[in-house]
Amino acid sequence: MQNFVLENPTKIIFGRDTIGQIGPETATFGKKVLLVYGRSSVKKNGLFDQTMDSLQETGLSVIEHGGVRSNPVLSHAREGIELAKKERIEVICALGGGSVIDSAKAISAGALVEHDVWQFFKGKKSIKKTIPLTCVLTLAAAGSEMNGGMVITNEKTDQKFGTGNKLLHPNVSILDPTATFTVPPNYTAYGAVDAIAHILEFYFTTRDPATPVQDRFMEGLVINIMESCDRVLINPENYAARADLMWCATLALNGWTAAGLGLVGFPMHMIEHSLSALYNVPHGAGLSVVVPAWMKYQAEQNPTKFSQFAERVFQISAKNDSEKASAGIRQLTGWFHKSGSPTSLAELKIPVTDIPNISENALKLAKIWRLRDYDQKMIEEILLLCADS
Ligand code: NZQ
Ligand code: ZN
Repeated sequence: MQNFVLENPTKIIFGRDTIGQIGPETATFGKKVLLVYGRSSVKKNGLFDQTMDSLQETGLSVIEHGGVRSNPVLSHAREGIELAKKERIEVICALGGGSVIDSAKAISAGALVEHDVWQFFKGKKSIKKTIPLTCVLTLAAAGSEMNGGMVITNEKTDQKFGTGNKLLHPNVSILDPTATFTVPPNYTAYGAVDAIAHILEFYFTTRDPATPVQDRFMEGLVINIMESCDRVLINPENYAARADLMWCATLALNGWTAAGLGLVGFPMHMIEHSLSALYNVPHGAGLSVVVPAWMKYQAEQNPTKFSQFAERVFQISAKNDSEKASAGIRQLTGWFHKSGSPTSLAELKIPVTDIPNISENALKLAKIWRLRDYDQKMIEEILLLCADS
């Protein structure tokens, strides 16, 4: 167990019929609200009206900034920043999934500085203050509702970069599982894959060989994510399953799993972000392709932790660690496929000939994220392992 400091300032309000609290909770931070949301789903499923009613019944003046697309882009975040500055916004409310919450975070930081918000993502400037942020989560996946991370794509340079800062934690997030009832099967599966990937990034990159508390916490989360996703794919309005999946996805990236692991990294995300930046692949769909390939590549070098994962998550036994590790990776890949998430570049219609360009793009993020073990050749070898189904 390594030394750690765990501080998570986000207030979570979890459960059925909680969305009506967004107005009073937001009002504690100010009167002038910028409501950030996506394209159409919240208008169709009634969440926009519920949220708007609660904000307006609390006497708040609401300015709208809708149209956030999945894999959110810098140009739209910049528009939100200009709007927040012009309207002297006092608090931001994000209604949506990770893309909406991350755009809102970029606005909350970018509206309080004169330089361009992209400087934060290139590591050239650090965040010193943010506009308060409240959230109504509508999709279980990214964990942005309870963490200090944000990911934006600069569509001019084809770069999807993420950055983190404690000040980017939402002040309050409302997690009502019924808000996710309308998430379609594909995005339900992509969200589960993303949450599993967040766990595996830490589980496999910690250098501490003895982290039994964190390991069993993470193994348990992976098992619960798969089981609850299976139940949701059978019945999308299974409240208990949606609640389990929602809370697991938040726990997967709110700092708790990483506490005590020491230095960890996001190598699988580093590679996936290039698929999303270059081909607009849904984030979780890109991860279900990259994660098994990365695991295969790493298990070749050192199968021990992959063998433990296979045994504890899938109850696999075999004559040695390498065999167990491979069987566990096959089982996880099979679950991704069964859930409806792609597991090869071919399924994403990305030709093998694109691999050098993808790896060159990924290397730029590897440098910013200080993933020093990764060079272009290594990234290409990992991508070749997921070229075909
Ligand atoms: O745009 P609308 O019409 O709202 O449709 C959205 C979107 O197309 C739809 N959707 C959301 N809630 C729904 C719904 N459809 C029906 N019913 C609902 N209740 O789902 C689509 C995907 O939404 P999106 O927000 O893009 O998905 P997700 O929550 O997976 O977020 C993905 C983004 O999160 C970032 C990813 O990079 C990606 O940009 N991440 C953020 C992280 C963080 N801040 O810590 C970490 C993660 O690794 C991840 O990178
Ligand atoms: Zn992710």
